[in-house]
Order: sequence, then structure tokens, then C-alpha cells
Amino acid sequence: MSKVWSNRFDSSLNPFIEKFNASIGFDKTLIFEDIDCSIAHAKMLGKTKVLSNKESLKIIEGLESIKQDFIQGKFSPGAPSEDIHYSIEEELIKLIGETGKKLHTGRSRNDQVGTDIRLWLRKKIDVIDFLLAELQNSLLSIAESNIYTLIPGYTHMQRAQPLSLAHHLLAYLEMFERDRERMKEVRTRVNISPLGAAALAGTKIKIDRYFTAEELGFENIYKNSIDAVSDRDFCIEFVSSSALIMSHLSRISEEIILWVTDEFSFAKLTDKCATGSSLMPQKKNPDVPELIRGKTGRVYGNLHALLTIIKGVPLSYNKDFQEDKEPIFDTVDTISACLKAMTILLNEGIEFNVEKLMDSVNNDFSNATDLADYLVSKKVPFRNAYQIAGDIVKYCITKNILFKDLNLEEFQKFHSEFKEDIFDNLNPMSVVKSRNSLGGTGFEQVKVEVNEWKKKLLI
Ligand code: ARG
Repeated sequence: MSKVWSNRFDSSLNPFIEKFNASIGFDKTLIFEDIDCSIAHAKMLGKTKVLSNKESLKIIEGLESIKQDFIQGKFSPGAPSEDIHYSIEEELIKLIGETGKKLHTGRSRNDQVGTDIRLWLRKKIDVIDFLLAELQNSLLSIAESNIYTLIPGYTHMQRAQPLSLAHHLLAYLEMFERDRERMKEVRTRVNISPLGAAALAGTKIKIDRYFTAEELGFENIYKNSIDAVSDRDFCIEFVSSSALIMSHLSRISEEIILWVTDEFSFAKLTDKCATGSSLMPQKKNPDVPELIRGKTGRVYGNLHALLTIIKGVPLSYNKDFQEDKEPIFDTVDTISACLKAMTILLNEGIEFNVEKLMDSVNNDFSNATDLADYLVSKKVPFRNAYQIAGDIVKYCITKNILFKDLNLEEFQKFHSEFKEDIFDNLNPMSVVKSRNSLGGTGFEQVKVEVNEWKKKLLI
């Protein structure tokens, strides 16, 4: 089945090399975009009179029927076609004959493939934005019902200060919002048409690049034909933004994995998203967050692959670029699946153990800062207050007790300004409530935060 290229070639390709060169195995993913790109091109050639109206229409009808045949399973692109572009062109010629041979007038596979990936990626970015919004909504709804649920806050994985669980979860909403913003920005650079750049230099055929760009919904066209066929920055930007999404998903996954351990017990997995062990009957494994954490590596790998593929490739198109597709396809599949899985996990796979959470913040020294701040409110300089609080922590640790177990006289041995209200001040609810600085975990702040998100996510 080895093909001969133009008449310039005397013999056919070595069969192994033919397979080695082919991208049809994966770029058939671009079938709809490739057909749409060709329809726009054929329409344009009709408009500029390069083709007669009849020819243009015949080509468009042929392409439409290839699309239908594909949908109905009557046409499946594959070997021996080298790639999706050839596959469609060959099918068109088979279907409508000689006129089909006119489709490729004034274009190259180089601008064609660039157009196809951009069309494909643009759609996927819109789906990813939707999935991110769904995830944000799930986090928001858990946050809204847990404004007054407290969770220990950590720095260095050491108990630091208690937090509103809502505030903790809303931190992720912020991250995913930045992800959405980044993706929107990437979309603006994806949404530029390279079509009409032809192989690299433009064409002497009378084409109308603005017409095809508009037909395909592009915002703009590439200004430089060489850049148009050589640019893969948008692929790297897309995968880089995806890598950040994965890093955020991986961080929340890691927290969930910790929260559902016996040691933490801040939450438990429902049966909807947990799996058992083939050997140990007591086990319930957090496979979903573990898989998400693991799949983060794939996307980071894809980013590294793309950066390396592009590095050192001279202008303009080089076959190296064929290698851009699989990392992009894999990234889209991976982040879409992970976003969905995390949303399901949050919606029905995890239940917070509110009692245990409350118990945790009641039985630690994470109110030590508030002990110092109490003295600060009595005009004791912070550094002195900090040392006194440290002394009290040490005293409690030696006696194996907590602040709340001390009586007022004991407090007053450390400083005479301690009064009866110290006990209320150290209560975790008061501790959290009092952190009312802008963006802090104080309940008033968190309520404002929740309300702002509710308004924002409605849009
Ligand atoms: N399959 C190729 C790719 O994915 C299409 C473009 C081929 N262009 C060329 N001049 N060989 O990049």
C-alpha cells in the first residue's frame, strides 16, 4: 500500500517508514475540525472565484457527507492514509472525483494542521472552563454549609491556628478561578487563524484569510506566515496552564488523603468513591485522590515533552511538530477526567467528620497566638506577650494539660493582666471569629467571601 508522492519520487516508501511517519493513529481525533477547516477553505475559494461556485459547492457537499458517513460509522479514517488531512482529501476524491483534487489549492497541510489543532483546543478549553466552574460550585456548596465548622490550620504540617473549614475550601476556589482566568487568556492566543499561510510563505492564489478566519470563528489572523506555521507556543501555554490545574487538584487530593486517614479522621470516604483491598478486609482506599495526584505527573511530563519538542526547531514547520498532538490530547483527557472525578468525590464521595474536627481544635495549642494577642490588647508589647505565652505552653506541656485546664490564678502567675475573659478568648470559636481582618478566617469575612462567590459563579 506504500504510496508514491509527487512524480518526483521513483519508488515507494519503505513500509516500516510509512508507518513511522504516519499520524493517522492519533490525529483522526481532529476529523471534525479538519472537515470544518476544509469547508471554510472551499467556501473561500468559491468566493474569490478561484473555484467556480459549482465546484466549491460540490466540495462542500462532499465534505458534509464525509462528516455524516463518519458519524454513522460508514467511514473510518485510518491507514494507509498518512494523516487525517490526507485521509479526508483521499475520501473526497473517491466520493466526488476530479473536483475533489481542487480542494488543496492555495493551502498546505502546515497551515491546515495548525488550524485544526486550534479549533479543537478552543472547544476543549470551553469544556475545561465548564468543568472548573462545576468543581468550584461543589467546593462552594460544602463551604457554605461549613462556615462555622472549624478545622486545624497548619503551617509546616504543624498545627498553627484554627480555621473555618469554609475558608480552607474557598482557598481552592481562588486557585481554580486563577486557572479559569489563565485558560481564558490562553484561549485568546489559540483563537488566531494560521490558515492561508500555506506551507510557510503565503500563496499567489487569490485567497481571503479574513473570510476563512471569520467562518471558523477566529478572532484574528496570524500576521506573519512563517510564524503562523511555526508557532506552537499556544500548545505549551495550554499544557502549562493545565499543569497548574493538576497541581491544584493534586494538593487538594493530598489533603483529602490525609483527612481520611485514621490518624486525622477529619473526613471519611463514602462507598461511592472508595475501593477495598484484595487482601485486607478493613481497608477503604482513597483511590480517586491518589489517582489524581498520580496523573499530575502525566501532565507535567506532557509539558516537558512539548517544551523539548519545540526547543531548537528552526523555522518554519518541521515534522517534529507532529509530536505536539499526543501530549495535548492526553492533557485534555487527563485534566477533564480529573476535574470530573474531583467534583464527584466532593459531591458524593467524602463526608466531613464535624465532631472530630471540632474536637481537634479544642484540644491543641493552636490558640497560643490568641494568648499573646490577649496580653497585647492589655498594652503588653507583642514580643513580651509572645514569650509569656511560650512560657505558658511549656508549663502546660510539662503538666500534660491545655490552656483551658489552667485556672485564673495560674494564668495570673504569668501576668497580672489576665482576667476571667481569657477563657472565652481562647475558645476556638472566639479565636476564629476574632480573625476579622480583610480576607481572614473570621466568620464575618467568610460570609462575605461565600456571598461574593455565589454571585460570581451565577454568571
Ligand atoms: N501530520 C502532520 C502533523 O501532524 C501534518 C502536517 C504535515 N506537513 C508536512 N509538511 N509534512 O504535523
